[in-house]
Amino acid sequence: MCGIVGYIGKNQAAPILLEGLSKLEYRGYDSAGIAIFDNNKIEVAKAKGRLAVLSEKTNDGKSVTGTMGIGHTRWATHGEPSDVNSHPHLSMSGRFAVVHNGIIENYISLKKMLIEKGFEFISETDTEVIAHLFEYYYTGDILDAMVKVINRVEGSYALGVLCSDYPDSFIAVRKSSPLIVGLGDGENFIASDVTAILKHTRNIYRLEDNEIAVLNHDCVTVYNNDKEEVKKEMFTVDWDVSAAEKGGYEHFMMKEIEEQPKAIRDTISPRIKDGRIVLDDISLTAEDIKNINKIYIVACGSAYHVGVVGKYVIEKLCRIPVEVQVASEFRYCDPIINKNDLVIVISQSGETADTLAALKEAKNHGARILSIVNVVGSAIANASDDVIYTWAGPEIAVATTKAYSTQLTVIYLIAAYMAEKLGMFTTGEYSQFVNDLQSLPEKVSEILKSKEEVQYLASKFFNCHSIFFIGRNLDYAVSLEGSLKLKEISYIHSEAYAAGELKHGTISLIEDGTLVIALATGQELFDKTVSNVKEVKARGAVVMGVTTDSHDNMEDVADYVIKIPNINEILLPSLSVVPLQLFGYYVASLKGCDIDKPRNLAKSVTVE
Ligand code: AGP
Repeated sequence: MCGIVGYIGKNQAAPILLEGLSKLEYRGYDSAGIAIFDNNKIEVAKAKGRLAVLSEKTNDGKSVTGTMGIGHTRWATHGEPSDVNSHPHLSMSGRFAVVHNGIIENYISLKKMLIEKGFEFISETDTEVIAHLFEYYYTGDILDAMVKVINRVEGSYALGVLCSDYPDSFIAVRKSSPLIVGLGDGENFIASDVTAILKHTRNIYRLEDNEIAVLNHDCVTVYNNDKEEVKKEMFTVDWDVSAAEKGGYEHFMMKEIEEQPKAIRDTISPRIKDGRIVLDDISLTAEDIKNINKIYIVACGSAYHVGVVGKYVIEKLCRIPVEVQVASEFRYCDPIINKNDLVIVISQSGETADTLAALKEAKNHGARILSIVNVVGSAIANASDDVIYTWAGPEIAVATTKAYSTQLTVIYLIAAYMAEKLGMFTTGEYSQFVNDLQSLPEKVSEILKSKEEVQYLASKFFNCHSIFFIGRNLDYAVSLEGSLKLKEISYIHSEAYAAGELKHGTISLIEDGTLVIALATGQELFDKTVSNVKEVKARGAVVMGVTTDSHDNMEDVADYVIKIPNINEILLPSLSVVPLQLFGYYVASLKGCDIDKPRNLAKSVTVE
């Protein structure tokens, strides 16, 4: 996720772009850049680091002249944060400058093709192929080149493109990444979201997938990819600035919950080619996988909870023993590991001190490290033998949601990839699993459509003093996350228990009216969990059951039931966690808590 701004008008462009980018820093902040058209050529200024570095370099934009330009604030995906990898990217002759938000999934094959045609690449980004493709296809008509480029690239993109042959206009397009057009008085804009341009205009065009906007200072024309003009309806934004930053949501947490289908899709789809899981990112060979003796999963907090799901998933699919440990324990437990063990390290930030220390401890014992990280170029990514990035984009809310979901997705990709190499799947099972994996975004969207039902349940229970989550196996793993989500943002005491373990002590805490959230999604253990539900009901508990559409007898025992769609049972955690995230969110909201910044917590825990 990156931020884009573009401007054409009568005023100096660079200060306007930098000001706009400052409103988009929440979308990415590892480097920034601008390209300005002036005196028949394009000048580029870019810098690694926060936007402040670029602002200082350009004297708040004042040192770069010109009245048309594009700007970008980057969240690294392909290639670590650096000056050269930051946007805008230029074509070889310097005729085109491009800013991009999204992922070009076929950039490797495009890059190969362009290198064969003599193009030279200077960055590690997927975006640079777009700049060169423009040059490759350009025969004097920018609109024509744009159509050819978008017909060639696969993946998601929002693009702003300057061409030095066009002193009075620039061009933009989007597909599956946000981009709006701002309509001003004698000036026009593009932006990843309205916050960047609210100071100048509230009138916007929303672009549909593959609609192309050509911006002049006094008009904007929108075309479809057949180069036919499209009549757009103007929309007037009435959000205030803070609501606009959150895309109209009250909190980043809800925005991020809603972003999960896209984040999951972005994480999965570049890694599935022709129905097979392709992990180009890692160097683990089939031989290496066969030689793995044991897998350790090490992480903190929610990332650790992903590991708990991972244990069940990897053991089930690969039959390799897996041990999950919280990083702060692992680092001091003198672990018995060696070079035949694989250590999977999970971290959104890639900077968590305990997780990094645990990684180093494992490395000292000679183990191979495969990390699952969201922040490209972070300390954990750099210290690992292999990294699989989650394409969740920046997560702002302290309580993780989309990072958790994408980490889980990567666990599924790894487990199925290894299982296939180990010959654990029949062909039919493998294709079915891959299909089911690809259906996750759609099923998560389906759950999000009925979020009001969860909101209603939250309104009944937000005054509780203590809430228990129970489940078995995968349901237990998800209970851990549901409980953490609730307590970290609503400050309600909560515990997650393996459903069969309650009667060994904790059941004494159940009294009249205690809320127990019981997850019973899997077929095999459904009846066992139902028995545990009956045990707590008998002691006065009020039970909220979470189960799949196919279990219609949950209503017989539970007071309230939340249903999730059916899917391959192993994938159910990706669905069952969503109502629990929503429940935590709505309870905290009803209690008036500071949801995005809960007390005593930090997003990235870089101290021991
Ligand atoms: C959960 O919502 C958290 N904010 C927290 O538990 C987090 O998952 C943990 O601190 C690990 O962070 P990391 O993924 O950045 O390493």
